[in-house]
Formats: sequence, C-alpha cells, structure tokens
Amino acid sequence: VSAEKGGYDHFMLKEIDEQPKALKDTLRGRIDEQNQKIKLEEVKLTAKELQDIQKIHIVACGTAYHAGLVGKYAIEQLVRIPVEVEVASEFRYRNPILNEKTLVMVISQSGETADTLAALRLGKAAGSRVAAITNVVGSSVSREADDVIYTWAGPEIAVASTKAYTTQLLAVYMFALYMAEIRQTISEQARIEIYQALQYIPEQAARILADKDHAKKVAQGLIDWNSAFFIGRGMDYTVALEGALKLKEISYIHAEAYAAGELKHGTIALIEEGIPVISLLTQPDVYEKTMSNVIEVKARDAKIIAVVNEGDVKSKDVADELIEIPKTHPILTPILSVIPLQLISYYASVLRGNDVDKPRNLAKSVTVE
Ligand code: G6P
Repeated sequence: VSAEKGGYDHFMLKEIDEQPKALKDTLRGRIDEQNQKIKLEEVKLTAKELQDIQKIHIVACGTAYHAGLVGKYAIEQLVRIPVEVEVASEFRYRNPILNEKTLVMVISQSGETADTLAALRLGKAAGSRVAAITNVVGSSVSREADDVIYTWAGPEIAVASTKAYTTQLLAVYMFALYMAEIRQTISEQARIEIYQALQYIPEQAARILADKDHAKKVAQGLIDWNSAFFIGRGMDYTVALEGALKLKEISYIHAEAYAAGELKHGTIALIEEGIPVISLLTQPDVYEKTMSNVIEVKARDAKIIAVVNEGDVKSKDVADELIEIPKTHPILTPILSVIPLQLISYYASVLRGNDVDKPRNLAKSVTVE
C-alpha cells in the first residue's frame, strides 16, 4: 500500500497533489485550439436537441452535489437555462416534473451511488435525456446514461473527494461553454475569455500546491475548536459548502457553511471570541457585500481566515490569516479556491490523529440506500 501511495503518508494528500495533472487530463482532447472552442465529442445530443432543452436538473450526492451547485451558476450564467440542483435521495422521491424537454445531469465520481443511479433511471423513465459526469469507465452510471462526460481524474482512493470534485467542476464548465457556443448565449469575447482562462487552471492549481505550510498553520489554529464556519456569496458559497463538508468528514470538527448575507438571520448568534470563520471573498460582484459580513463577525471577535484573489489589498486589514489564490475568470474560481480548503482539512485531520483516508462511519461509495 505504501508503494501505491507514492511516498505520501495518505492517499488524500497524494490525490490533492494530483490535481494539476488530473485537470490537464480532463481538458485533454476537448480543446479546439484553432477555433478557441470546447469540443465534447462524447456528447451525442444534436445541436437541435441542445437547443430544445428548457430545463436542467443536476442530481448528485455529497461532494458531487456541491459540484452540481457550481454547475447551476455556470450554466445559468452562460446559457440562461434554468437549472435545479438536488441531492439524489430527495429528487428520487419527490415526483419531480420531468419531460422530454428536460435534461437530467447526474454527477458521480464512482458512478455507483445507489440514489444517483435511481435518479438517472427516473429521468430516463420520464423521457428526459440523461447526461452523466463520472470518473469511472464502465460504471453503472456510465452504462445507463445517454451521454457521458468522463472526468479522467484517475482512481480516487481516499474517502474524502478532492481531485474528483475539481475535475467535475471542469467538466461542468466545459459543458456549459459547449452549450453556450451552440445556443449562442454569450458573446464571442466572453466565451474566449473563459476558454483562455481554463487553459491556465492546471498550472495555477500547481502554484497553490507548491506552498502547503500556510494551510498547515491555519489547520493548527482550527484543531482545538469543535466548531467552524465557512461563509461566502454566490459561487463562493458553493465552495464554502464543500469546504465545510471536507472539514467535517475528516477532522470531525463541526463545520457549517452559510450564505454570508444569511448570517444575520440567526447564525451570527453563534459567533464568539476566536471562533474560526473561513471567509471566501473571490467574487468581484459581491465582494463588498461579503466583506461587510466579514466585518460584522470580526466585530464579534471571530478569527477571520480569508480566501481571496491575489493582490487583494482590502482584506489585509481584516483577515487574521490571508490565503491568496491566483487570479482567474471569476466563474472558474471554485476550482482554485477549494484547494486551500482541502489542504486545511487534510492537516486538521492529521494533527487530530484521525484516520485521514478512512474516516469513521463513511464509505467511498454508497451503493445501497
Ligand atoms: C460518499 C462519499 C462522498 C461522495 C458521495 C457521492 O458519501 O463519501 O465523498 O461525494 O458518496 O459519491 P459519488 O461516487 O456518487 O460521487
């Protein structure tokens, strides 16, 4: 087993470090360099069928569900089709409104999650087209879906999902761009901007991974707490949810993510001196709004761990710990901003002496209901 870990103490850290390569592999073969476009040859939906879709349901569990939340933002913003995202265990039992004009998109690393598979079958039975984003070739999901986009992340062994998540994000972005190209919902300039930013993502991920000491230091400050908060707005909120899940899963520190604007409606009552509040401030359009929420919790003596874009000067005065990520197109930021959160959770788990790769009570893939 230690050989499989390639010199790492844990699969999780190995897989975190594999992200630049995994992201490159996800992009490979899907880039039409000449026309600066995304090509998704595996998507068999015709242009006409793509034109006819009126609604998309993204269905998944756990970390894959969080990838779906990013997908909603990306697709709605770029393609202007309404997208609902739902956990599969809810979706399958609520009699969702589906027809041949709806696209059901399931996201599943393993392709074997029982609830996700049931959601896929529900979509098919209702006459909806079913697309899947999955990592495992030949998995049940890959066999049953009409269109399959593989993430090509390579095997993920650690229970806490890392490279599967960031490659799922890349896959949903590519799908959104692909649809936007066909439906012509964004300008050529906007499309090319995102297209070009995508090419830098693997290298930018590698830059974040080059310095792990800061994440370790932040983790050190978390481990004596039984509770932590993650806040953000928009896409930052979806990353906050994933950051909180990672921390819960492997460090067993109770963590909750809140839409920053919602704090004042209850949660702020829990803020006390020194409590860690991981604040994501990467989205320019809501930066000031989130910052005002950060200042509110700081005024109640919370410890602010801020995740910001490189060169963000304003946050320097507010943050107790400042984590900078390389600048990309705002829509793509989640792929980068989640990486420090993965590292912080990893080190918190190690420092607490937990079984990082096999956290208590959890399974890598939940194939029974
Ligand atoms: C389990 C794992 C999670 C994962 C979820 C969905 O609960 O512990 O890490 O996100 O299943 O798995 P899937 O294979 O469908 O992505």
